[in-house]
Amino acid sequence: MKVCVVGIGYVGLVTAGCLAEAGNSVICVDNDAKKIEGLKKGAIPIYEPGLTEIVQHNEKLKRLEFTTDLKYGIDSAQIIFLAVGTPSQADGSADISAVLAVSGEIAEKMPDYRIIVTKSTVPVGTHKKVAEVVKSKTQKPFDYVSNPEFLKEGSAVEDFMSPDRIIIGTEKESVRETMKQLYSPFMRKGNRIIFMDPTSAEMTKYTANVMLATRISFMNEVAGLCEKMGADVELVRQGIGSDSRIGRAFLFPGVGYGGSCFPKDIRALIYIGEKTGVEMKIAKAAQQANMASQERFAGRICDYFGDRGKSVILAVWGLAFKAKTDDVRESPAINCVNKLLAHGIKIRAYDPEAMTTAAAALGGKITMCENGYDALEGADALVILTEWQEFRNPDFELIAKKLKKPIIFDGRNLYDPEVIKKAGIEYHSVGRPDVK
Ligand SMILES: NC(=O)c1ccc[n+]([C@@H]2O[C@H](COP(=O)([O-])OP(=O)(O)OC[C@H]3O[C@@H](n4cnc5c(N)ncnc54)[C@H](O)[C@@H]3O)[C@@H](O)[C@H]2O)c1
Repeated sequence: MKVCVVGIGYVGLVTAGCLAEAGNSVICVDNDAKKIEGLKKGAIPIYEPGLTEIVQHNEKLKRLEFTTDLKYGIDSAQIIFLAVGTPSQADGSADISAVLAVSGEIAEKMPDYRIIVTKSTVPVGTHKKVAEVVKSKTQKPFDYVSNPEFLKEGSAVEDFMSPDRIIIGTEKESVRETMKQLYSPFMRKGNRIIFMDPTSAEMTKYTANVMLATRISFMNEVAGLCEKMGADVELVRQGIGSDSRIGRAFLFPGVGYGGSCFPKDIRALIYIGEKTGVEMKIAKAAQQANMASQERFAGRICDYFGDRGKSVILAVWGLAFKAKTDDVRESPAINCVNKLLAHGIKIRAYDPEAMTTAAAALGGKITMCENGYDALEGADALVILTEWQEFRNPDFELIAKKLKKPIIFDGRNLYDPEVIKKAGIEYHSVGRPDVK
């Protein structure tokens, strides 16, 4: 099939690459000329496991093309995906101006019938606004599909290739059939397409993200209680995760959730609730608990060093909002680093993939190091903020030797306290008794 994807960020590039890998011809359109120029030369602007290989392979086979020219992109494409950003506005609502602007431009430029599909996360009711914009600019026929994306950064290619489910929000049978055909290569383990109306599809996306964020926030609150009561949150997590009604996913306590989706989508759902007179009390509580868990972890470190703050140097492992991504948007690691800096503490940091994005976010306020062990030079303690695989089994002897005093603050509960104890390291983690 011939497809156009507009907005070539984390979602757009993965969508385009995976659709091309399934044999479709995909034209990628973005208004960031620098990004498109880079992509034409094979430079992949983001880190996402497996993405570079797919993009370069399909570009070579001419199944993937990059352009800033929307007209060229939609001329021959039967299906047009919108994957542009929908960032938070000051009042918490999602800014859908890019979605509406691109929809209007598509309407003006489409040569005949097209299917317009929104992958961007958009407020409930956006499908009506898009339809209005398109109708106001063209007499040509079109259909609209709400197809929210559920991929996770860090495993986006895998998630797209083998999704838990695909939500297709459209009432029209012929469009359902077309979308089913497009997604059929990704349904080999069984059909996991769920058809619904566009309003319910838009609602499903926000509900999923807020539910997941709520699980994390609840566990972080429980972790805080465990710290006071002397319980071990990791045992509690195993104890409840084994209950099939609860399940094991998204129960890991730590420094809080972040990234480009959960914080903004929770704000958007709260805003939608306010506008419609249905207060989203649980979403609000999850948001507050998340902020509190970020404060609590950074606060514990600041309290530990007290007035000595200005003479303290800390090594930080991990700046991305989670492992296997270079994305630092609303990263709890960056928030924690900023809180430590505000306390006068100096930071030497390392992240396997997010050094460039973090340097841009922190603007030269910290020292970036070549590797994790380099970051330990002259540091008073090690702080772990992202759960990268390479941090999970480090050389504890070397850590203890390089630090001024062997102390670890672990915001991701990566280590077994017994192992750390044997290595002679003082250990502070989340929701577990300290090891001294
Ligand atoms: N990142 C995720 O993990 C994820 C997962 C599911 C859903 N989403 C949703 O998908 C959408 C995109 O997210 P993202 O993380 O890929 O964003 P992103 O910021 O990485 O990418 C957005 C892209 O759109 C381009 N763009 C903006 N306005 C444009 C315009 N007028 N014309 C052409 N291109 C334009 C930007 O240049 C950028 O390349 C958001 O609504 C987000 O909530 C994201």
